[in-house]
Amino acid sequence: MRQPLVVGNWKMNGRLGEAEELARAIAGAEVDWEHVSSGICPPFPLIDRVASAVQDSPVGWGAQNLHQEDSGAFTGEVAGPLLKDLGCTYVIVGHSERRDLFGESNELVAEKFFAAKRNGLIPILCVGETEAERDAGKAGEVVREQVQAVLGDGKEDVFRDAVIAYEPVWAIGTGRTATPEQAQEMHALIRGLIKEAYPITGQSLKILYGGSMKAASAPELMAQEDIDGGLIGGASLKADEFIGILRAAV
Ligand code: G3H
Repeated sequence: MRQPLVVGNWKMNGRLGEAEELARAIAGAEVDWEHVSSGICPPFPLIDRVASAVQDSPVGWGAQNLHQEDSGAFTGEVAGPLLKDLGCTYVIVGHSERRDLFGESNELVAEKFFAAKRNGLIPILCVGETEAERDAGKAGEVVREQVQAVLGDGKEDVFRDAVIAYEPVWAIGTGRTATPEQAQEMHALIRGLIKEAYPITGQSLKILYGGSMKAASAPELMAQEDIDGGLIGGASLKADEFIGILRAAV
């Protein structure tokens, strides 16, 4: 059985005071923590604050991005070893905002994925098609390529101890959630790809849905066979919403 995982991606939101308050509210919520895992990925400078706020709770923490190298002259970047020092469990790689706004290619995303693994972090690999790609009937092809870029020749079981998040770009921050059927179809496709190469890893791999998930839409999405939780943007900034999603996941 796959234990559900609900991760909050705060994106470029949060200030010193409110970050701690929000993190504490989530960590202290009445949730069936034995049956759901959770993490918060705040902006880099808030990681330590969030960590102090949740460290005695079941809630973990992580980052939204990392550099593919472990150190060096890369002004403004943050590397895996420091994230590990900060106690991060998770790091998001290949979010569509990074791919689209910061030009991250499938190849770069794969390098970041392996940088995360090399540093003992759990990469949350984001994949998903744009609306134009979906309309052109290419959603499956796009997502397959994004997964394949990390899987490579399939000689290594790279998705062991990793997470994939399916996030249709047209559903991110738009209020338009994918239907449970649309999401399930894509999740099944992703799981199928991994299973082909590594049946046990494919079966145990957590595949999260992301894209305007709210407490109200979470139960139906989470009820789908291949949806194992959520990567939550906007709703992770509101304690009640995020806690509602955590409860729906169990
Ligand atoms: O990483 C999270 C996703 O981009 C979803 O964001 O819940 O605001 O649509 P959203």
